[in-house]
Amino acid sequence: MDKKNNPRHMVLVLFVFLFLKAHTCLGADSISANQSISGDQTIESAGGVFVLGFFKPGNSSNSYYIGIWYKEISEHTIVWVANRERPISDRFSSGLRISDGNLVLFNESKIPIWSTNIVNSISSYSVQAVLQDNGNFVLKDGSNSPRILWQSFEHPTNTWLPGCKFGYNNMTKTNQRLVSWKNSEDPSPGLYTLELDTSSSTYKILWNRSKNYWNSGPWNGRIFDTVPEMNSNPIFEFTYITNINESYFIYYVKGNSTKYPRAVMDVSGQLKQLNWLPTKQWNAFWSQPRQQCEVPYFCGAYGICNEMSLPFCNCLMGFEPKLKSFWDLEDYSHGCQRKTKLNCENINDTGNGKRDKFLEMSSMSLPEAQQYVTAGSEAVCKAICLNNCSCTAYAFDSNKCLIWVGELLNLKQFSAGESKGEILYVRLAASELRSSRKSNGRVIGAVVGGASGLAVLLGLIILVILRQRKKIFSPGKAVVEGSLVAFDYRYLQIATNNFSEKLGRGGFGSVFKGKLNDSTVIAVKQLESVSQGEKQFRTEVSTLGTIQHVNLVRLHGFCSQGSKKLLVYDYMPNGSLDSHIFETKNSKVLNWETRYRIALGTARGLRYLHEECRECIIHCDVKPDNVLLDAEFCPKVADFGLAKLVGRDFSRVLTSMRGTRGYLAPEWISGVAITAKADVYSFGMMLFEFVSGRRNSKYYVNGDVSFFPTWAASIIIGGGDVFSLLDPRLEGNADPEELIRVCRVACWCVQREETQRPSMGQIVQILEGILNVNLPPLPRSFPVFVDNSDPEYILFTESSSSRSILSQETVMSTATS
Ligand SMILES: *[C@@H]1O[C@H](CO)[C@@H](O)[C@H](O)[C@H]1NC(C)=O
Ligand SMILES: *[C@@H]1O[C@H](CO)[C@@H](O)[C@H](O)[C@H]1NC(C)=O
Ligand SMILES: *[C@@H]1O[C@H](CO)[C@@H](O)[C@H](O)[C@H]1NC(C)=O
Ligand SMILES: *[C@@H]1O[C@H](CO)[C@@H](O)[C@H](O)[C@H]1NC(C)=O
Ligand SMILES: *[C@@H]1O[C@H](CO)[C@@H](O)[C@H](O)[C@H]1NC(C)=O
Ligand SMILES: *[C@@H]1O[C@H](CO)[C@@H](O)[C@H](O)[C@H]1NC(C)=O
Ligand SMILES: *[C@@H]1O[C@H](CO)[C@@H](O)[C@H](O)[C@H]1NC(C)=O
Ligand SMILES: *[C@@H]1O[C@H](CO)[C@@H](O)[C@H](O)[C@H]1NC(C)=O
Ligand SMILES: *[C@@H]1O[C@H](CO)[C@@H](O)[C@H](O)[C@H]1NC(C)=O
Repeated sequence: MDKKNNPRHMVLVLFVFLFLKAHTCLGADSISANQSISGDQTIESAGGVFVLGFFKPGNSSNSYYIGIWYKEISEHTIVWVANRERPISDRFSSGLRISDGNLVLFNESKIPIWSTNIVNSISSYSVQAVLQDNGNFVLKDGSNSPRILWQSFEHPTNTWLPGCKFGYNNMTKTNQRLVSWKNSEDPSPGLYTLELDTSSSTYKILWNRSKNYWNSGPWNGRIFDTVPEMNSNPIFEFTYITNINESYFIYYVKGNSTKYPRAVMDVSGQLKQLNWLPTKQWNAFWSQPRQQCEVPYFCGAYGICNEMSLPFCNCLMGFEPKLKSFWDLEDYSHGCQRKTKLNCENINDTGNGKRDKFLEMSSMSLPEAQQYVTAGSEAVCKAICLNNCSCTAYAFDSNKCLIWVGELLNLKQFSAGESKGEILYVRLAASELRSSRKSNGRVIGAVVGGASGLAVLLGLIILVILRQRKKIFSPGKAVVEGSLVAFDYRYLQIATNNFSEKLGRGGFGSVFKGKLNDSTVIAVKQLESVSQGEKQFRTEVSTLGTIQHVNLVRLHGFCSQGSKKLLVYDYMPNGSLDSHIFETKNSKVLNWETRYRIALGTARGLRYLHEECRECIIHCDVKPDNVLLDAEFCPKVADFGLAKLVGRDFSRVLTSMRGTRGYLAPEWISGVAITAKADVYSFGMMLFEFVSGRRNSKYYVNGDVSFFPTWAASIIIGGGDVFSLLDPRLEGNADPEELIRVCRVACWCVQREETQRPSMGQIVQILEGILNVNLPPLPRSFPVFVDNSDPEYILFTESSSSRSILSQETVMSTATS
């Protein structure tokens, strides 16, 4: 798998390298009394979905396990492991067979190391173990037809497959658990566990079986409280059952909406729901907690978690991974250790000028387990920490002195642009600070407490300030490749008056207004989640710089200094389209002619992105907020091409979904690959808003909330009065031909089947009046997400009668021809 295109955090498959040459299939789906599985032998479920046999995770180890995996999936993905804690090393002299009515795995010395462990008195000859097409491995009493003695679904490892009841069995008093693997190459039980808390009907994720860091919230009869996205789930059917015998949740796939879905308690500490894409990748379309850094202790002691970096974990400066081999397997839980011992740990070495120092870390979320001490000033706080050898860090804020004793846990760093977090001073050996002065943070010399120390400290601070000032007054900027300007960060800081005038906030960061020396007004975007390396970032920026079109916002330059990544754009005096098209207190009504011109210009900008750039760029977030207007109300599409720039593939994960609800095409949810037609869909939704002057979801017909596109379609198809659709503020002033054209194109764009939607090129031609085609038959229904102004959103499916898990309150009329 190509790591660059599939950042690890995305797919997070328990990626198993199987080095078994051609498995020999027993040609059966079961193991009966006379058979055993050993060596390369496997059994296969009747429909050829799952395979069971020995596998070896990872390259180097010689540890084999009995497991179940998907037959068709090229990346061997293990969904169940029998002997997860006790691997065997020679699979040819080991075997899985039925013994005394149980399924037993014997190791090389014929010693049983794993068993189904049921007590029964059934003769082994009648017992049979069958691998089913749903992934369940079932031990049955073959003679008396369907008596199930044991099944793997009752003993899941880290994977929860559709059709598996997962919860609590009150008859056997067993609580099932999904337990993560230790790391991607070790199936033994890891730190993260999902289980049901029966007392509150809530699923919980625990760290080390103790610390609870995610809750599903109680089952409210329909969904779990903290998982509103279940409301509109087009992929699964599910239910939670609780009675005197058992409590469990179970889910099934609706129709063929997705292939090979599975829920996994992942090594990342996140519960993930994945499916298999036609592009032959696993797609994690849901995960909880959403942010990696919300998983406690994920980076271990002295590790810093940062959502913006890949990998997520890094050691604090002056520290290195304790166990490098685990770190490389993305198991960071062992944390980091000092490269150089602290001075105070060396009893010999006292007071020869090499006392420990403190590294200043800004934008930090402070670690766990702080202690409050009384100190009137930062200098005193520092002295207290410095004079106590077990103090590893301090922070001083609003006259409060916090110190940490022992390992620092749960360190998180925000991105520089977020202006969040606090300053933490971490104790390091003096030599560490000297050797890595440039790389990270500002270094403050540690000074022996007392007045003399304070004086020196003051001197230092003044020195630092002077140096910074010097920089401030000589801002530099330099021209680089192509037409782009590489800006110095300080220069932009001054140009934006220290980022004081915020213009808005988009998917990738906040935008500030600024002014260059030559009085050119600019818009500066502070990128928030850049995980690209310097070189790659510059490459992507210069690519973006070559994308120039009258209907696209022009990139003027950029700044890339360490973690500070900014983009400088032309400033658009008329702001974004949403502030003009939707009614606000002081907005002037845009006349029809302007609206039409904006629609056409936007379409041309998108056509350029889709069809005329070297690589097709899918915008993924087309909406009025991302169409900016220059002084002449000429539209300029903004915010394109950034997903690649920040180095994360946003297009795949529902939880960090790039698009905006209300404009999202249905394929975003079903998990198939996104094409340019997703932009076409969003553009269509926007066209409806050009007509009505209101958000699609906020449309009222006779007092009922209606979904405007559906209602508009019924008028258009039924030959009704199109002027009734028009923004009443226009008082009927619109070109009827153009109005009909826009409405029809909009309907054409929002069809469920992406192949039936037009291309942006066709749309431009129709709007230009060149392509006078008879539009194909208009869709009968509109599957769309509607932002119903509450956290729950709604999916409109095929027809109003078959709406599945929809909000009951919403009135919807489905257009029919
Ligand atoms: C298993 O072995 C027993 C005894 O050797 C024999 O009677 C039986 O037919 C065998 N069953 C199968 C399925 O081969
Ligand atoms: C395992 O081996 C493959 C092929 O030799 C290699 O590409 C991969 O990086 C190895 N994985 C690890 C974790 O060493
Ligand atoms: C088989 O398992 C037993 C019990 O755990 C162990 O003592 C023995 O060494 C194992 N045999 C081999 C060859 O690993
Ligand atoms: C998990 O908890 C056990 C005790 O329940 C403890 O011995 C162990 O050290 C803990 N693991 C970690 C990584 O803290
Ligand atoms: C579990 O079973 C016991 C009887 O064995 C019963 O008293 C109890 O209420 C049951 N628990 C639940 C949650 O139904
Ligand atoms: C609980 O289990 C008993 C015994 O298997 C069965 O008779 C009863 O119907 C079950 N109750 C429910 C509510 O499923
Ligand atoms: C699912 O797909 C299979 C094969 O593609 C097809 O035979 C079956 O009818 C489909 N089922 C549904 C419910 O669409
Ligand atoms: C400390 O002193 C002892 C005895 O004088 C010596 O053996 C040791 O190397 C010294 N350690 C350091 C770190 O200087
Ligand atoms: C260091 O600080 C800790 C926590 O405040 C305290 O328990 C310990 O006694 C201190 N050690 C010394 C040598 O002062």
